[in-house]
Amino acid sequence: MNSLSKPLYATPYGTAYLGDAIDLLKCLPEESIDLVLTSPPFALLRQKEYGNVDQNEYVDWLLSFTIEVKRVLKETGSFLLDLGGAYRRERPVRSLYNFPQKLPEFFIKLLTDAGDTVLDIFAGSNTTGVAAESLGRKWIAFEDNQTYLATSTFRFLNKIDEKLIRILYEKLNSEGAAGITIPQVIQLQIIEPEGEIETARAKF
Ligand SMILES: C[S@@+](CC[C@H](N)C(=O)[O-])C[C@H]1O[C@@H](n2cnc3c(N)ncnc32)[C@H](O)[C@@H]1O
Repeated sequence: MNSLSKPLYATPYGTAYLGDAIDLLKCLPEESIDLVLTSPPFALLRQKEYGNVDQNEYVDWLLSFTIEVKRVLKETGSFLLDLGGAYRRERPVRSLYNFPQKLPEFFIKLLTDAGDTVLDIFAGSNTTGVAAESLGRKWIAFEDNQTYLATSTFRFLNKIDEKLIRILYEKLNSEGAAGITIPQVIQLQIIEPEGEIETARAKF
């Protein structure tokens, strides 16, 4: 079993990894996760964007992940798949925020205890990670779209200077970016002109 490479970013409770969830899942030890909570990409009828395959292949594709999900789940663990926006024949939908934060919060509270580990294999904007962090649960996020994952960092940052946002985003969204720790993200400012460093520090 390969071990996970460096996360794109980390927080006090969690780590977010960029890559195909099927490969990343294989790097997790068996029976290490208490809850897998995820909202898969949508099966669009015609469009093959957004990492989708067509309807006939969709279920098989999704099922291929469940074998690994079962392996990494503890015996007492739970698997929750949000299919709310996954498939609509008449009106294909495409939204990152197909579940509001209240939903993962509710299930994380219901199905885990503080200190447990929650995994989202299709993390998108990482609503699951944000909910888990706020509830004191460890979390792991997998996402193969670098821009989505880079953008999700801002959900963990409060009162951040606009310039910092731009610098952080560019760093996370560039090739080879990895290993940023939040809230130590402020250290990034060392690469910026002196005046900006002082402004940024003062804000925290
Ligand atoms: C419905 S969205 C998830 C929305 C998420 N709940 C949120 O809070 O934004 C599904 C995500 O799965 C990602 N995805 C699709 N195929 C993937 C794969 N093989 N491995 C990892 N992520 C994948 C897409 O890029 C998309 O961001």
